Amino acid sequence: MTQQRGTAETLAMTFEERFEGAPDVVVRAPGRVNLIGEHTDYNDGYVLPAAIDYDVTIACRARSDRTVRLYSALFGERASFRLDRIGKARTQGWTNYVRGIAAILQASGHALAGMDALIAGTVPLSSGLSSSAALETAACLAFEISSGFRLGPVERALVAQRAEREFVGVQCGIMDQFIACLGRADHALFIDTRSLAYEPTPLPEQGVALIIGNTNKQRGLVDSEYNTRRAECEEAVRVLQLANPNVQALRDVSLSELDAARYRLSERTYRRARHVITENDRVLASVRALREGRIAEFGRWMNDSHDSLRDDYEVSCAELDAMVEAARGLPETFGSRMTGAGFGGCTVSLVASDAVPRFMERVGEAYKAATGRTATFYACRAADGAKVVWPAGRE
Ligand code: GLA
Repeated sequence: MTQQRGTAETLAMTFEERFEGAPDVVVRAPGRVNLIGEHTDYNDGYVLPAAIDYDVTIACRARSDRTVRLYSALFGERASFRLDRIGKARTQGWTNYVRGIAAILQASGHALAGMDALIAGTVPLSSGLSSSAALETAACLAFEISSGFRLGPVERALVAQRAEREFVGVQCGIMDQFIACLGRADHALFIDTRSLAYEPTPLPEQGVALIIGNTNKQRGLVDSEYNTRRAECEEAVRVLQLANPNVQALRDVSLSELDAARYRLSERTYRRARHVITENDRVLASVRALREGRIAEFGRWMNDSHDSLRDDYEVSCAELDAMVEAARGLPETFGSRMTGAGFGGCTVSLVASDAVPRFMERVGEAYKAATGRTATFYACRAADGAKVVWPAGRE
């Protein structure tokens, strides 16, 4: 983590320097860590992410014209666009998340006002912690307030997902935008991505810490491989529909049904489907374990999830495997796995609280010895979803 954590007040002051005059509000939206349920959301399955206390913050003020002026504190760059003609930017790619939100809001019939916005953030970029969903969600809330309307949090998540898919061009599931909108402090969120039903699940208050380990290997192949995995899951569904026309997604298939149809599938497609089906079962079992305080069992499900992502889904990499292996080597670790889309980025580990410094030191050393890279660790707390953070008392 290289950025400083700025307070909302500091951001409001920086806004005054950049745009003259005070902002109307400061909003924030969090990054996320997924505890379990990986590559299940685009298969109508289950996920269990938590919002984290690393976020994207936007100070903004409505304008009386149709211009949007942006300043990124992270990149030290200015940009602007007009709401009447929103094109995709070829340089300054970070503006596309804001442009995409404006375009989708307008396409859904919302009248937008121009806006001045200062964007800052602490979510590490390209690390699998969903800085893009955080930016989309914060931008959506900023436009809502500047334009005088408000969406519900589920609606906001769907707008942000459409911006990512239709404007930015990444065919993501709903998990990242959903948790950025609906996260709850000290809770993970169990989400059924088919019905969008959700249930906050308390994380242990004492004795257990959530540690994110950044491999500092950026996720190179992720976009093309992500789309290949989606296509492989769709292929499995097409074949499984021959045996059972009611199958709409891998969510509808049990392991025994998959095994019965194995002879119709390529070995690779079979393994991809097996990951998704067993991962859905693991989410259900681990949510039960978490609710009933069985942390050691929860940790074992995390370990199994990683192994399945590594062997069946093949979205891990040497760096993620090395970090997970190092973490599991410590007796104080309950469980450890890659988190997010894979091919680099971060791991998540559940660790006994009093062992956190030792964990960071030992895993850091072992990871360096195995890969030559320096890891970064974040001990994080589960945080709330997107909201107004300044002025105090404004909702
Ligand atoms: C990315 C996508 C999510 C999800 C994960 C993998 O983060 O944005 O929708 O598919 O990968 O679980």
